[in-house]
Amino acid sequence: MQNFTFSNPTKLIFGKDTLKELQNEIPQYGKNVLLVYGGGSIKRSGLYDKVLAELKDIGAEVSELSGVEPNPRLSTVHKGVEICKEKGIGFILAVGGGSVIDCTKAIAAGAKYDGDAWDLVTKKAFASEALPFGTVLTLAATGSEMNAGSVITNWETNEKYGWGSPVTFPKFSILDPVNTFTVPRDQTIYGIVDMMSHVFEHYFHLEENTLLQDRMCEGLLLTVMETAPKLLEDLENYEHRATILYNGTMALNGMLSMGYRGDWATHNIEHAVSAVYDIPHGGGLAILFPNWMKHNLSVKPSRFKQLAVRVFGVDPEGKTDEEAGLEGIEKLREFWNSIGAPSRLADYDIDESGVETMADKAMANGEFGNFKKLNREDVVSIYKASL
Ligand code: NZQ
Ligand code: ZN
Repeated sequence: MQNFTFSNPTKLIFGKDTLKELQNEIPQYGKNVLLVYGGGSIKRSGLYDKVLAELKDIGAEVSELSGVEPNPRLSTVHKGVEICKEKGIGFILAVGGGSVIDCTKAIAAGAKYDGDAWDLVTKKAFASEALPFGTVLTLAATGSEMNAGSVITNWETNEKYGWGSPVTFPKFSILDPVNTFTVPRDQTIYGIVDMMSHVFEHYFHLEENTLLQDRMCEGLLLTVMETAPKLLEDLENYEHRATILYNGTMALNGMLSMGYRGDWATHNIEHAVSAVYDIPHGGGLAILFPNWMKHNLSVKPSRFKQLAVRVFGVDPEGKTDEEAGLEGIEKLREFWNSIGAPSRLADYDIDESGVETMADKAMANGEFGNFKKLNREDVVSIYKASL
């Protein structure tokens, strides 16, 4: 295990009827609030009215930025930064899924930066300051509610990158499972795939002696796989929504990644697909991850075997590590198929003609991946296997 320092300053407020905590949290940061949300789901669910009522009770002066896109765009970040600067915003409240929260992070840092917020996303500049912000999460998937990461798309150049800084952790996040009841079936599935993929990104590393980390990862996967089919049968079941919501946060808040570095190549490969075709992140991962696994099975077959045996119930008797590992990968594919996740790029009308462009995007910053460094040939091969 490598040395590590763990710090996660986000206050997590979890459970039923927790929205009222806005009244305790926001006043300490200021009452000139920018409310950021997406394309209207919070208006349809009634959450918007409830949030406004809480803000009114504390006497907040509220400005709004609506219409944050899934795969949030730089142009929307720019709009938010402009509002913050014009109105002297002191606090930002993100109400929505990962896209709304990621956009808010870029706005919060962009408002304190003199140049273009894109410099922060492309790491030309480092975000050393940000406006304080909190979140009310409405979709279980990214973990953005309790991490510092943000993924922003520049739609003019078809580039999508992740970035972050210690100043882009939310001050608090309110997670009421009831606020996820209205998440449609397809988005629920994408969220399940995304949180499982975050665990896989952690799990595939070359460090020795990560016994507890492995068990935590496996526990999370087993819990999601046990709960997902039940939740998809009953989308308004509080306990199942709560389990999935909690898993989504734990999968990417730093708890699983102490003492080693995960791989993260598949996320880069997927972001390149979304950057060109604007597909849902979790949908892309469901297609790509099993193919990344097959491509890299020979790097450390014992790792794949462990996953296959402990999580997918593969019997290793009489099998090589590679054979057992491959069986585990097939079982992952079967599980994702069984819950209705996409399995081919063709499901999004992406064919061979897009492979080179996607590979260009994925390779923009050179070779990547910590379990196995991928070059262009590797990436093209994974895309082709995914067509
Ligand atoms: O825009 P609205 O109307 O709110 O609708 C959204 C959107 O259409 C809808 N939705 C959200 N909550 C809902 C709801 N519909 C009904 N009821 C609710 N309660 O769901 C759609 C998708 O929302 P989005 O926020 O885009 O989904 P998600 O949370 O999966 O976020 C995806 C984005 O996060 C990035 C992805 O790349 C993608 O851009 N990621 C961010 C990460 C991070 N910050 O740590 C890590 C991830 O790996 C990921 O890359
Ligand atoms: Zn993800």
